[in-house]
Amino acid sequence: MKRTSSYIVAAACLVVAAAASLSQAESAPAAPSAGSGSLDYEYFKTKVQPVFLTKRAGHTRCVVCHTTNNAPFHLVQLAPGSTSWNEQQSRQNFQLIQKVAIPGSLDSPIVHHPLAEQAGGDPHHGGGQQFESQNDPAWQTLKAFVMGQKG
Ligand code: HEC
Repeated sequence: MKRTSSYIVAAACLVVAAAASLSQAESAPAAPSAGSGSLDYEYFKTKVQPVFLTKRAGHTRCVVCHTTNNAPFHLVQLAPGSTSWNEQQSRQNFQLIQKVAIPGSLDSPIVHHPLAEQAGGDPHHGGGQQFESQNDPAWQTLKAFVMGQKG
């Protein structure tokens, strides 16, 4: 009797494991290198941070406001004369970003706040509608990041 029940437990585990790999397989094709839904530091450092440092026509760079204002999205101040963050500062930024980047969720403020309202973004952002469309490659980088893209 005892033996039988442990077989049942083992079988149940197999079913759960199979279901888990099935659902993973379903979500895989759209983004082959998407990960487990956790945020990836390398991708953040090499692909996402540059988005915050890039000047877009008609807009101020994210880094200019978000190192000094009190918004939930906060970045470390650049050292005087520096145009990017060092390793330690990048690590700090990666911690800070977690306030506005929810793993696996397109409801993350970092994704919808700077996006134009007609493209599915928020109606108001103090820094403007920096991405006019979801096709903007920089916006897609933000999206890929919250969706767990690895760098
Ligand atoms: C001109 C200054 C300015 C610039 C440039 C700017 N922002 Fe903001 N941002 C603000 C202000 C002010 C707030 C807080 C008020 C609000 O929600 O709009 C804010 C809020 C946010 C929030 C937090 C939303 C929340 O409440 O959770 C996010 C995320 C954000 N900005 C992303 C960005 C990104 C990404 C960029 C660059 C593409 C950017 N911002 C550029 C001024 C700016």
